[in-house]
Amino acid sequence: MRSGGASPLKGDITVPGDKSISHRALMLSSQALGTTTISGLLEGDDVLNTAKALQHLGVNIRQSNHVWEVDGVGIGGLAESDSVLDMGNSGTSTRLLMGLLSAYPFTTFFTGDDSLRSRPMGRVVTPLAQMGAKVTARTGMKLPLSLTGSPDSMPIDYHLPVASAQVKSAILLAGLNTPGITTVVEPQPTRDHTENMLRYFGFKVKTEKMDDGAVSVSVRGYQKPEYENRTLTVPGDPSSAAFVIVAALICPHSSVFIRNVCVNLLRTGLITTLIEMGAKIELHNERDVAGEPVADILVVHSPLKGITVPASRVPSMIDEYPILAVAAAFAEGVTVMEDLAELRVKESDRLSAILESLQACGVEASAEGDTLSVTGGKPRGGATIKTRFDHRIAMSFLIMGMATAQPVTVDDVTSIQTSFPNFVNLINGIGGHIRDLRNPTVRRHHEPLVVAVDGPAASGKGTLARRIAEHFNLEYLDTGSLYRAVGMKIVYAGKEPSDVKAAEEAARSIDAEDLANPRLRQERIGQAASIVSAFPEVRQALLDFQRKFAGSSRGAVLDGRDIGTVVCPKADFKFFVTATLYARAKRRHRELQGQGIEVIFESVLDDLRERDERDEKRSIAPLRPSEDAFIIDSSTHDADAVFDLVRQVILRKYPALAA
Ligand code: S3P
Repeated sequence: MRSGGASPLKGDITVPGDKSISHRALMLSSQALGTTTISGLLEGDDVLNTAKALQHLGVNIRQSNHVWEVDGVGIGGLAESDSVLDMGNSGTSTRLLMGLLSAYPFTTFFTGDDSLRSRPMGRVVTPLAQMGAKVTARTGMKLPLSLTGSPDSMPIDYHLPVASAQVKSAILLAGLNTPGITTVVEPQPTRDHTENMLRYFGFKVKTEKMDDGAVSVSVRGYQKPEYENRTLTVPGDPSSAAFVIVAALICPHSSVFIRNVCVNLLRTGLITTLIEMGAKIELHNERDVAGEPVADILVVHSPLKGITVPASRVPSMIDEYPILAVAAAFAEGVTVMEDLAELRVKESDRLSAILESLQACGVEASAEGDTLSVTGGKPRGGATIKTRFDHRIAMSFLIMGMATAQPVTVDDVTSIQTSFPNFVNLINGIGGHIRDLRNPTVRRHHEPLVVAVDGPAASGKGTLARRIAEHFNLEYLDTGSLYRAVGMKIVYAGKEPSDVKAAEEAARSIDAEDLANPRLRQERIGQAASIVSAFPEVRQALLDFQRKFAGSSRGAVLDGRDIGTVVCPKADFKFFVTATLYARAKRRHRELQGQGIEVIFESVLDDLRERDERDEKRSIAPLRPSEDAFIIDSSTHDADAVFDLVRQVILRKYPALAA
């Protein structure tokens, strides 16, 4: 793929779920009691590999509409896998599962892709062997390996030689299944998602800070967790948000709002560093979600200055050095990053990958021992980067190309699937220009455009859809009116809206004329519509009508609740308009008042809350953004601003439509 010449980045977005938390959510749910329901899980290859491995180990895991359910087997309840566990590219899955399995009296075989097979596993094998596990591995303690757990596992008191959350977590997971108290002392604090989530499930974990800055974490084995049937929401990944943050900082006139990002202090070293470099980054709406601190992040283009990033910051920004190095290439002066030895054993030798790639882009950079120095300025770009199947290298240099004088090409983007599957669409959606060189998007004028606009009641989706249609000369269908038409036919035929058969028949007979009937706007028809829209038979019957409409030779805009997900999953553009319940209720209240209808605000609010619930909970086509939808929060933007954003997004992809 090639990245070049981005426009100013503008958008109100979310990034996929946190990878570290997602792995732990699946693993710890398997150890919990009852069924855990997880939303926001990162559905990237790495996490899917964890899910698959757990299934091989006898855990029941289901997914529907991106909500995951895991039936806990409890401590000691995993079963031997009858096949080799292929962990793909994922070091976290491998190391944490090795820990989890280290007290089971059976053998598990692990392997992975080229990158994972070259990474050292000795760091987890050493403590697990002390607890009693037996590991046979390739030279250098590399995959493939076999691990035979010990039924007489012994608790240990282990001082980590390197600060590693993966090793800490592996030992704690082994400790869960070992009698007595297992303690890990880490020289510097590393991400504590395992501890936070254990506590969220009601396991007791003790964390103590020592005088020298080290941290000791202990867990007692065979605990019964306090809670059952937990519900868990995974927040956005700060390591994925990092790419958007740096992109906005280096592309002039950018301003991006990223919602719902995990801001655990042990993960936000990059934000601290960028702020020290002069970045304008603000955290808003800080809150706690399932035991993790979460916030919305506003980032605005800023001139940056080079600084020295101390070794003490390594654990809290371990995965962000590639993208920090890109930021440093645009900063004034020299940025020095100390003590990067750990980067050499990531998905690739990241230290040399960063160095080689920066130099290829004309940036002055050097490494002395494990210290990297980057002299910033106006980088030339114009190179092809060898990504070494490392997702963070691929994404970092696609971001770099957005602001270099010449475009930057990366040789392989498949690795991006491991952690940030919608990276390219998301970046292009806010103003990036990343092209697939093998499969360029060439829009021929004879292909009609299809635009999907979804969102909850009173989000402003109708206004937006109408304006898009008018501006780009497209047909417009308010699909809500289809359900109203079904409701109208039933009510006026003297039947009950709950009569599924009648509703299905009515749905099959809808024609364009019904949609213009002024009765559609009546309140009782709206209520009937809300009932019939939950019937799968009705939705199915209306699908044909909607799809035919979308196929109109002039091109079409459809607004509704499942256009991007069900009706037109291949739409050229998918927008999902939302706003807080309060903002929507205000809007609807004002609208009703404008029509001379007097209602109290609270009842409008309650009404919308109920509708949201019905929309989100219905078993068929529930309201949710399509994964590749561009999400717009209209609570903070007025209708003009929303339309302007959408127009820009469309024109950026198809500039010819400006004419
Ligand atoms: C991770 C810990 C870090 C990090 C990796 C995820 C985790 O690795 O680089 O991407 O989820 O625990 P180390 O523990 O090896 O530093």
